[in-house]
Amino acid sequence: MKKIFSIVLSFALLLSLASCGGNTGSTTTTTAAPQTTAAPQTTAAPQTTAAPNTTAAPATNVKVGIAMPTKDLQRWNQDGANMQQQFEAAGYQVDLQYANNDPATQVSQIENMITGGCKVLVIAAIQADSLTTALATAKAQNIPVIAYDRLIMNSDAVSYYATFDNYMVGTIQGQYIRDTLKLDTAAGPFNIELFTGDPGDNNAHFFFNGAMDVLKPYIDSGKLVVPSGQTTFDQCATQAWSTENSQSRMENLISAYYTTGTKLDAVLSSNDSVANGITNALVGSGYTKDNFPILTGQDCDITSVKNMIAGLQSMSIFKDTRTLAKQVVDMVTAIVNGTTVPVNDTKTYDNGTGIIPSYLCVPVFADINNYQSLLIDSGYYTADQLK
Ligand code: BGC
Repeated sequence: MKKIFSIVLSFALLLSLASCGGNTGSTTTTTAAPQTTAAPQTTAAPQTTAAPNTTAAPATNVKVGIAMPTKDLQRWNQDGANMQQQFEAAGYQVDLQYANNDPATQVSQIENMITGGCKVLVIAAIQADSLTTALATAKAQNIPVIAYDRLIMNSDAVSYYATFDNYMVGTIQGQYIRDTLKLDTAAGPFNIELFTGDPGDNNAHFFFNGAMDVLKPYIDSGKLVVPSGQTTFDQCATQAWSTENSQSRMENLISAYYTTGTKLDAVLSSNDSVANGITNALVGSGYTKDNFPILTGQDCDITSVKNMIAGLQSMSIFKDTRTLAKQVVDMVTAIVNGTTVPVNDTKTYDNGTGIIPSYLCVPVFADINNYQSLLIDSGYYTADQLK
């Protein structure tokens, strides 16, 4: 069904593009671009299906609306800037908006994109299921929607999903803890606490499940102990992925369970903004690099990479935003040209209306041993940015 719908969409899009030659929309925003380096494909997944369209004609009449959640997190600034740069280089016009993590603002930005003549929408949703009505309008106007990084739930207007393999993100974090603590050979038991992200973000469930599928057998066997007893998604969630929220939860955990000499060996954190709060709480309670627990993260945000270098975070998942941006440009170009849209997963992501054909890029982890080659030598950051 989705595929047929997408083909119909492409056809309708072509017709509407053919009839809008005079559209020279000029509302492109000029959002700052902290990360505009060229795009070596360090983490690209193998293309298992149709070849990307690299010979597309310049898309001078096509305006793409890009809705990003917030500027508060470094990664979304990079995602937006990389997409804007790559779309414009391919001849598209871009309307890039950030919604300050407010779902209502994001809805109105998307409505404006539709009335402003955007022919394709690329959306990283703030709340997975808050866009149904706005996207019904997009669908009625044959505007294809690509869910970016986060799946948009309960909307049949979503044509494709481009992301990193979210379950694999969690798996890598769990494996990092397992391997660093040597859970298969060391005597243990080891103490761990668990943190994940916002319940309204579909990704958070994939991250947590991926990690718990690795860690739970060790919790069940007693090799890993969770002194707080907080092991369900809801107990471990962090509203809005907020650093302040994770800091206060970690402070509470420390004072309730770790004041009597109980050693904290590891903390699972689904991303860097949450990890930063955990680090703040630990440092505030006197932990140093010499007794710091293993602490995971995700995004390789600058603060976290600096913490990694200082011994105050162990690892972070690296999701090269240049790779994802390129993937989305390829997908949009295929849609615009009516050719096969590159996807490599057609079974994992059901948004409540059916499976959304997806392209999953491959995440990797960065830690103290490989950050130089992964993050600096690849041109993602300069050495100075990490000082
Ligand atoms: C993204 C993460 C990000 C988190 C908080 C998730 O949907 O996949 O990369 O850290 O949102 O913004």
